[in-house]
Amino acid sequence: MPALQNKQIIIAICGSIAAYKAAELVRRLGDLGAEVRVVMTRSACEFITPMTFQALTHNPVHIDLLDPEAEASMGHIELARWADAILIAPASANTLARLTAGMADDLLTTLALATSAPIAVAPAMNHLMWANVATQDNLTKLQQRGYTLFAPKHGQQACGEVGEGRMMEPTEQADRLSQLFSHTPAMKGLKIMVTAGPTYEDIDPVRYIGNRSSGKMGYAIAAAAARQGADVLLVSGPVALEVPAGVTCEKVRSAREMNHAVLTQLKGIDIFIAAAAVADFRPVTTSEQKIKKGDAEQAITLVANPDILATVAQQEKAPFTVGFAAETQDIEHYARGKLEAKQLNMICANRVGGAKGGFEDDQNALELYWQGGGERLSMSEKNVLAEKLLAKVISRYRPAIKS
Ligand code: C5P
Repeated sequence: MPALQNKQIIIAICGSIAAYKAAELVRRLGDLGAEVRVVMTRSACEFITPMTFQALTHNPVHIDLLDPEAEASMGHIELARWADAILIAPASANTLARLTAGMADDLLTTLALATSAPIAVAPAMNHLMWANVATQDNLTKLQQRGYTLFAPKHGQQACGEVGEGRMMEPTEQADRLSQLFSHTPAMKGLKIMVTAGPTYEDIDPVRYIGNRSSGKMGYAIAAAAARQGADVLLVSGPVALEVPAGVTCEKVRSAREMNHAVLTQLKGIDIFIAAAAVADFRPVTTSEQKIKKGDAEQAITLVANPDILATVAQQEKAPFTVGFAAETQDIEHYARGKLEAKQLNMICANRVGGAKGGFEDDQNALELYWQGGGERLSMSEKNVLAEKLLAKVISRYRPAIKS
């Protein structure tokens, strides 16, 4: 039985030009067997008429909190209980802020407070409003409270500008809503290997060549994959992080140890995600004794480390490979170069050296590239970003295994 069959869904519509797309969403959910009731904010009614939704759902549209007639047919508490899920689409910046503040100043926000059903939000707004730290903070808080984000896309906006803030297409929203009800987690049955953290290349017993990677991004990806039901092996360089619940972790120190751990356990892996900042070079020899100050002027001769990711991608039965590219400039150009050179399925590029995001920060933004396409994931907490990244990996991985 389709996941949405007989499910009782509230579609709550805010004032945004994307409100017209809610008509298609309601129709699609109806086609999938859901019973839909529509709630509109007053400003949504400025963009599209309630009549449209009444005709599509064969039910009255709910607008006012204190409308005696509407309350008589189905009161707001009853409506909150009736819902198996609430999808707020489009969700405006204003409504996200009101939800975060716990307001109950209209029917939509009151329902959100009064329901025990899962709530998803599909934001739609100007790209600068979306990127604003206030909106992003609100979203992070709502997600921490259990809201599901149907993240907006990058593209042409109604205001004429280009950026991230276009509402997710109705068909994709319907698919994502189905997943909320499907009891099979999105990554069930998949074996995922993730590399994370830096590698340390020993010069002598006390000194090493390392880098600033904290491992947070790789650990967030491993944790998110485990939450989604995958069997996860994390191969980690030296970091100060706890191994996430449900993840098997092998700790390594050097690039060669990481390479060995990865290649010996590669059989059967479906998706390989290389988030580690592997040292490109190591000293050609490691001194057995601590090098004395007096010998400091001697040169340390370096030799290249194996490229773990490229080696994995070039295996005869290579898994779906995802690499990372930390760049300071010309991000797309360099990232696409690595995608090609290492024969990867996807590369996640991020800007490093700026004020926000990157190595040690809890937040990051990514630009994803694959052959013939790409997508931007805006600055957010690394655990939120990991969820978005995995959703994209899965959507690219499924067709890749069919072909
Ligand atoms: O070529 P570059 O080091 O910029 O590529 C970065 C990507 O390659 C990352 O995904 C990193 O984990 C991976 N890598 C690797 N082994 C190396 C160097 C990089 O797996 N020796």
